[in-house]
Amino acid sequence: MYQKAANYIKKRINSAPRIGIILGTGLGASVDTMKVEAEISYGKIPGFRASTAPGHAGRLLAGKLNGVDVLVMQGRMHYYEGYAMKDIALPVQTMAALGVETLVVTNASGGINESYAPGEIVLISDHIKFDLESPLRGENREELGNRFFDMTKAYSPELLELASDAGERIGISLKQGVYAYMGGPQFETPAEIRMLGILGADMVGMSTVPEVIAAVHCGMRVLGLSCVTNMAAGMENGGLNHAVIDQAEINGKERMRKLLREVVKAL
Ligand code: HPA
Repeated sequence: MYQKAANYIKKRINSAPRIGIILGTGLGASVDTMKVEAEISYGKIPGFRASTAPGHAGRLLAGKLNGVDVLVMQGRMHYYEGYAMKDIALPVQTMAALGVETLVVTNASGGINESYAPGEIVLISDHIKFDLESPLRGENREELGNRFFDMTKAYSPELLELASDAGERIGISLKQGVYAYMGGPQFETPAEIRMLGILGADMVGMSTVPEVIAAVHCGMRVLGLSCVTNMAAGMENGGLNHAVIDQAEINGKERMRKLLREVVKAL
């Protein structure tokens, strides 16, 4: 299926981008300085599922960001939308079939580490996945990668350094942290957040990890940028809702826009 999707896209773009970017909740506008050469809605691409979550446009964009060829997913698919894990892996495998070698994943997350503040961008250094289902469950596609594969350096140490340097150049100091994947759509309970903290998580979210697993499987280098939109459940007075997250993203968005422009130039 990913080959079909790749063939469909190849006919509609003129470039051969080596960099893929997945934009998370509310971060779609972080590429609004991009020179878009082609725009395809997910609904038209064979095998792609629509993005139904708020803040996700559901479009694939090809073009130049700061002069660099990129393929951008403006919005992603989540397990909580009812999609299968393999549906979430498909766009990443499609990017690989199109020649993408480096994947930049962005997301919105809840901060567990008390040193974080809403609006801050954190580099994902590693992740924890609680649910058992892998996006690669089922027959292995040998042409993409091996059945068993190493996740020791899933988040490329080289790219972590490169992103830190890029941040420094534009005056953004970037901490690193471990991202815990929870299925959602409900936010976590305070007890779950305490558990995640004890287990070594610095932030929590409902995306990214299935995509990263698929990307590592097919040999891509991965950089994860997480916009902390709120402190996680129970860490501050008051509850969580999507409006709180939207507001913090407005603060984080400008930073993400600048950082992405600087990072792609250095990749
Ligand atoms: N939990 C899970 N996902 C999230 C959160 C959170 O607190 N904030 C943004 N995405």
